[in-house]
Amino acid sequence: MQTITGTDISFAAELLRKGELVAIPTETVYGLAANALNTEAVLKIYETKGRPLFNPLIVHVHDVKQFEKYAKEIPELVYKLAEKFSPGPLTFVLRKKDIVPDIVTGGGETVALRVPGHPLTLGLLKQLEFPLAAPSANPFGYISPVNAWHVKEQLDGKIPYILDGGNCMVGVESTVIAVHGNEIELLRVGGVSIEDLYLVAADADIHRAGDTTIKSPGQLKSHYAPKTTLYHGEMKNLMLRFRELKKAVLSFDQKYPGDHIVAEEVLSANGDLKEAARNLFTAMRKLDESGADVILAEKFPDHGLGVAINDRLERASA
Ligand code: TXA
Ligand code: MG
Repeated sequence: MQTITGTDISFAAELLRKGELVAIPTETVYGLAANALNTEAVLKIYETKGRPLFNPLIVHVHDVKQFEKYAKEIPELVYKLAEKFSPGPLTFVLRKKDIVPDIVTGGGETVALRVPGHPLTLGLLKQLEFPLAAPSANPFGYISPVNAWHVKEQLDGKIPYILDGGNCMVGVESTVIAVHGNEIELLRVGGVSIEDLYLVAADADIHRAGDTTIKSPGQLKSHYAPKTTLYHGEMKNLMLRFRELKKAVLSFDQKYPGDHIVAEEVLSANGDLKEAARNLFTAMRKLDESGADVILAEKFPDHGLGVAINDRLERASA
């Protein structure tokens, strides 16, 4: 199969109607999309990604008003949050309606819904008669793609079309939440920070999901991982510990001196966590290709998007 890259949403829509896969840009990362209501089409996503069958997928719609087509018993707080964050990097886990196939929800009773904040993909969704199921467009377990080239590198020949929407402006995946009354359960930290959630839901009870049951594969360790072994911690300690090895260094706003450094990426010289998130996955890919023995990544400030960055680095680490 030949993989074409372009910006033609009508062509993308045509392929999706035929049950084919299309890589789509969003503000977080690129998604590998299929008609969410077509089980055969969604199966192709799992095949192409090499993703275990139990992982549920996010369903993308162009408007919050579409939520009630696919979900029931939607709490008031969901609408309040959506008003502020949708379109945007926030995904809601809601009780599903029968129309959503089991293949999309991993057989569960809930469905994850999101309105992505990217004009091309919103335009595409508006043309379609169905919503799009889309995980990140990377082979299972690898770093998520944040531009069309990243997708092409890994899925060339496996999908017919990549809709090219440029670089992703957020750069880490969406925050995934489940809302119960006034309670917000964080299933995955991401593009919307905990501080942002509190701005809208000041009196809500926000907590991280317990680690006893895995409700979201984004919670699995060893996810988003480069091929080179990555360590995440205090940079000075890491430099000492690995002083004899060829190192690739990932840091926030400054370079670190040291021997045998073969590559380094500073994510934001200005110390801007949003810019750092935007640059994170591209930098990880570059460092992964640098020929280093190890990648050393420093601990980021634990607030704002620093929480999502630390989360991804921790999961990518040995
Ligand atoms: O930013 C994003 O969310 C990107 C773009 C393409 O929208 N998508 C993405 O999809 O990261 P994926 O499949 O790589 O991650 C989806 C996350 C997983 O952690 C999954 O477990 C969780 O959402 N999820 C999906 N449906 C769920 C459900 N019904 N209950 C709990 N978690 C769910
Ligand atoms: Mg993913």
